[in-house]
Amino acid sequence: MGLFDGLLSKKNEPVLGIDISSSSVKVLELGRRGDNYTVEALAVEGLPATAVVEKQIVEPEAVTEAVAKAIGRSGTKLKRAAVAVAGSSVITKTILMPASYSDAELEDQIKAEADQYIPYSIEDVNIDFQVLGPAEDAEDQVEVLLAACRRDTVDDRTNVIVNAGIDPWIIDIEAFVLENACTFLRHQMPDEGRGHAIAVVDIGSSTTSMLVVNNGEVEYTRDQQFGGRQLTEDIMRHYGMTWEEAGKAKRFGNLPEDYDGAVLSPFIEDIAQQIDRGLQFYFASSNQAKQIDQIILGGGCAAIANIDQRVRERLQIPTVIAKPFKGMNIAGRAKPQQVERDETSMLQACGLAMRAFDPVP
Ligand SMILES: Nc1ncnc2c1ncn2[C@@H]1O[C@H](COP(=O)(O)OP(=O)(O)OP(=O)(O)O)[C@@H](O)[C@H]1O
Ligand SMILES: [Mg+2]
Repeated sequence: MGLFDGLLSKKNEPVLGIDISSSSVKVLELGRRGDNYTVEALAVEGLPATAVVEKQIVEPEAVTEAVAKAIGRSGTKLKRAAVAVAGSSVITKTILMPASYSDAELEDQIKAEADQYIPYSIEDVNIDFQVLGPAEDAEDQVEVLLAACRRDTVDDRTNVIVNAGIDPWIIDIEAFVLENACTFLRHQMPDEGRGHAIAVVDIGSSTTSMLVVNNGEVEYTRDQQFGGRQLTEDIMRHYGMTWEEAGKAKRFGNLPEDYDGAVLSPFIEDIAQQIDRGLQFYFASSNQAKQIDQIILGGGCAAIANIDQRVRERLQIPTVIAKPFKGMNIAGRAKPQQVERDETSMLQACGLAMRAFDPVP
């Protein structure tokens, strides 16, 4: 359709993954030879707490600066990027359309009916679609994945990238990006996920995104407004620290002895409850899997010491920490220490960087 300029479309070009999230900008370049991947370049640049709020860019200059810095530090030579939009202005829906329609006819029809699917005026949104395949119970129809996003949200992201000197080549949607990133988690799943239901939970700063992958198929996705920001605020309140102090303290662990009992444990209990609630929704919405065989924890909060063990004990489900870079080579310019430290929070960046290897349709 061209409106979204790249959304859902497949292009086989080297691209840099740029994850613009609430706490930082993450930049990742992956290389591939056969089945072997290499982390070619990686950098994380922190953002002021007010720069990105609920997935919307509030302070474009600060974000542009962080993107430019991250790219500079990563040492990447790539000039094209894949970025993703997320939040309340993104809408995805599967709709039915006549199987006989050409792409142009589909486009006209979808535009004509758009107000049925999208709560915004057609002038204000970018729309893209992809034919998924024949509809299950109607032979003359096809299932079409419709994706729409408010144009100002897309423009905010692309402007920041352009102003940092990079071409925003692919615009994706975060939920699909996380799904793509699961490729790099397969090595951790029992039987690489075959015949198992696995919950992948990315616990970031302001959002927790959950996917349930059953036998390799994504059956459920859910975003909750919950994340490490809450722990930072709890630390600020409990110890009278500033935002910066609390953020550093929780990463470097230099907090008073009562930290675990008084602040961290209640937060981990909240994490467990959020996951549990998400799973209950999944069980209620699906008649496929009866149990979850594994939880994979990602996002910056997965770096909390022993969080896998604590979630496992609380939910009685085997739980591991996401290791997307395990088995990958690390190129000289990507510092191994940083790669290891930031690994759990790079799932979005991995899914975006992977767009470089999309097959040409
Ligand atoms: N070692 C650590 N211990 C505890 N918390 C940590 C640690 N490392 C990072 N975090 C927290 O993880 C969060 C950042 O995670 P991440 O980078 O995944 O979030 P984000 O992608 O910026 O946010 P969102 O996806 O919600 O927009 C912050 O709240 C940060 O304080
Ligand atoms: Mg994130």
